[in-house]
Amino acid sequence: MSPIAVDLFSDTVTRPGPAMRRAMAEAETGDEQNREDPTVNRLQAMVAELLGKEAALFLPSGTMCNQVAFAVHCRAGDEILLHESAHPLLYEAGGPAALIGALLRPLPGARGLFSAEQVRQAIRPRVHYMPRTRALSIEQTANVVGGVCWPLAQVQEVCAAGHAAELVCHMDGARLLNAVVASGTAAADFAAPVDSVWIDLTKGLGAPVGAVLAGTRGFVEEAWVFKQRLGGAMRQAGIIAAAGIYALEHHVERMADDHEQARRLARGLAELPGIAVDADRVETNIVIFDVRGTGLTGEDFGRRTERSGVRFSVLGPTLVRAVTHLDVPPDGVERALSAARAALRG
Ligand SMILES: Cc1ncc(COP(=O)(O)O)c(C=O)c1O
Repeated sequence: MSPIAVDLFSDTVTRPGPAMRRAMAEAETGDEQNREDPTVNRLQAMVAELLGKEAALFLPSGTMCNQVAFAVHCRAGDEILLHESAHPLLYEAGGPAALIGALLRPLPGARGLFSAEQVRQAIRPRVHYMPRTRALSIEQTANVVGGVCWPLAQVQEVCAAGHAAELVCHMDGARLLNAVVASGTAAADFAAPVDSVWIDLTKGLGAPVGAVLAGTRGFVEEAWVFKQRLGGAMRQAGIIAAAGIYALEHHVERMADDHEQARRLARGLAELPGIAVDADRVETNIVIFDVRGTGLTGEDFGRRTERSGVRFSVLGPTLVRAVTHLDVPPDGVERALSAARAALRG
């Protein structure tokens, strides 16, 4: 088996480069749990400003941001509306049920999106024998459907429908900055309609650890309690926060390159016999394609491309995902396409 030279498994596989490591080594630190780490405090202030929110909280992961936000917003028995492909439903080990006692109510919808009308229809009447529909969650960008950007108007309409029924609106912004770069819409504009929002430092931004959750000062104070309760409070976390600051200062605009690589990859894959991909609809750094027409399963395809040193992730029996990022080499797309061609040859 060749070593993996082009890793398209996820944008989480990036490694901190020398300049980021230098920033980490030189970071000023303090006791983060006592709010005395100046680098963590600076990162939190930067993200609050970027997202147009009063305050922000550094957490070890995006998963913990979702869990903490839901814990603040909901009590046991409450219901959260979200898309049927959303991360908390598929990949957070049942956290909302296990940790909060909240129900996740999946909504269908093309390309990871749902509408204001769906929200209005889904909200349950306030009667004592029904769960209380308490919150909705928007995933920006929608991951497993292919990095799809929620248009600003749709975020606004969905949140207006939620707020009209006293729901709390949350944004899983794991890849919000990809949507910002792709659409030209400011992060604060996407975040304005929601009550809580977070960005991941470990995806397109390329930092090694952490995510930052933002909202009102009151929300963030409550979030501190759940951070502590879940064991997410840290000590000299400035070491890792410094990587996040470096990433926000150096790795945002360059995501346009990831998007261009994803488009090139999709166009190349579309030319291969038996591979189905909607290359014109690639908006950010994720390409989902179907290998059914090749006669291979996704697993077969993945195993064969790994032999050529290219790793994809397999999402379903014949569905494969590629994610572009900071560490994809300049010839990564060409190498991925030639690995795909070799896989089809057998
Ligand atoms: C849309 C989305 N939300 C949440 C997460 C969780 O983030 P983390 O890996 O930082 O826990 C991910 C990670 O892949 C994601 O893609």
